Amino acid sequence: MIAIYPGSFDPPTLGHIDIIHRAMGIATTLIVAVAINPAKSLMFSPDERVEMLAAICKGMPNVQVTQFSGLLVDFARAQGAKAIIRGLRAVSDFEYEFQMALANRLMDDSIETLFISTNAQYSCLSSSLVKEIAKLGGDPSAMVHKIVLNKMLQKSAGL
Ligand code: PNS
Repeated sequence: MIAIYPGSFDPPTLGHIDIIHRAMGIATTLIVAVAINPAKSLMFSPDERVEMLAAICKGMPNVQVTQFSGLLVDFARAQGAKAIIRGLRAVSDFEYEFQMALANRLMDDSIETLFISTNAQYSCLSSSLVKEIAKLGGDPSAMVHKIVLNKMLQKSAGL
């Protein structure tokens, strides 16, 4: 089964990486798909986000990393995917996630959304929290992969 794991990944956190590890055990091919959303104000370009994820997922044989624009269901259908993977951290995530899953199913009922509950250790993590901590001079090294940490340090140094 081909599955898509979509998200903004700005930047990817250890919570995202944990979901990738677990989803790659369920899917035959897991496509990690970085959403191109020009409306959002983001720290990293889609290419930079793909580059970081591809470096982290190097050596994961059934994981591909790419980017997409437009509707997720259209992208999933074009890839031949049968499932969309989303991580759930807490009840507060549920309403938005449930709404997206239902809307996606109304548009294409051949694609199922599968929720993976986060590892409790990472349930407090979010990309925005990581960015805020880094902006305020904190150390997010327990929250992101070292590849991401280095990229964030380069960004803050204006490199
Ligand atoms: O990491 P995020 O920001 O929670 O991911 C949200 C994402 C990218 C999965 C969602 O915004 C999305 O699917 N965007 C693509 C456009 C789309 O299909 N919108 C309708 C969703 S019901």
